[in-house]
Amino acid sequence: MGWQLLLNFDDTSYGFLYFLFGYTVIIAIDGPAGSGKSTTAKDVARRLGSLYIDTGAMYRAVAWSCLKANIDPESDDLDGHVGNLVIALSPSDDGVVVRLNGQDITNDIRSSTISEMSSIVSRNEAVRTKMVQLQRKMAKNAVLAGGSVVMEGRDIGTVVFPDAEFKFFLVADPAVRAKRRVIQLKEKGVTSDEGTLYREILERDARDETRELSPLRKAPGAIELDTSRLSFEEQVENIIRAVKGNG
Ligand code: DC
Repeated sequence: MGWQLLLNFDDTSYGFLYFLFGYTVIIAIDGPAGSGKSTTAKDVARRLGSLYIDTGAMYRAVAWSCLKANIDPESDDLDGHVGNLVIALSPSDDGVVVRLNGQDITNDIRSSTISEMSSIVSRNEAVRTKMVQLQRKMAKNAVLAGGSVVMEGRDIGTVVFPDAEFKFFLVADPAVRAKRRVIQLKEKGVTSDEGTLYREILERDARDETRELSPLRKAPGAIELDTSRLSFEEQVENIIRAVKGNG
């Protein structure tokens, strides 16, 4: 029966591999913007030697392409447009390199405009279908090559890999998240207004949580981690401990 399952290996069979070989395959980390998800996921992947997949970067790439091609992200034009996009993520020392139709756009997708627009494009069904397919394919290739994956986003534990061996849901007080964003931007030499960032965070949360398709939700069985008062090291350590079974 086991081999039959392996021969019929599909996107949801990873749990079986875990059962069979006893190693961790997929670690899903979801949560709102500024919850510490990206930095934490990146470091967890580094420590476990796993492939890190930043799914938000993929929605950001779609948003960036809309801006360049002058596509209204709320119009039906987006359905056809997304079909022509080739999005590729590859690991780098800082996380991932993001390419759109071969062009490196890693440094172009982190602005507030793209943050806002990515949250809008992510409501589109054609966009979500394509991104989820790509995410499953990337993970499947990594697992078939003998590796494991840390994937972060909004719907990884609920939709992309509902059977992931480990699911985490990171949350943090919006005021703390706004403060973190101010510091992040300052490190990049950008001055910002904490009040504006706070309002933007609440708006983006509302959009991500109330959208019809794959809204941001804690997945059943996910471990919730409130990072408001945790240091970065504590966030990473909590996840590593849970994965290694000393949680
Ligand atoms: O994680 P991030 O801030 O880079 O994500 C940008 C936007 O992409 C976010 O506002 C919602 C969307 N997104 C999504 O809908 N599903 C994901 N798995 C990841 C991101």
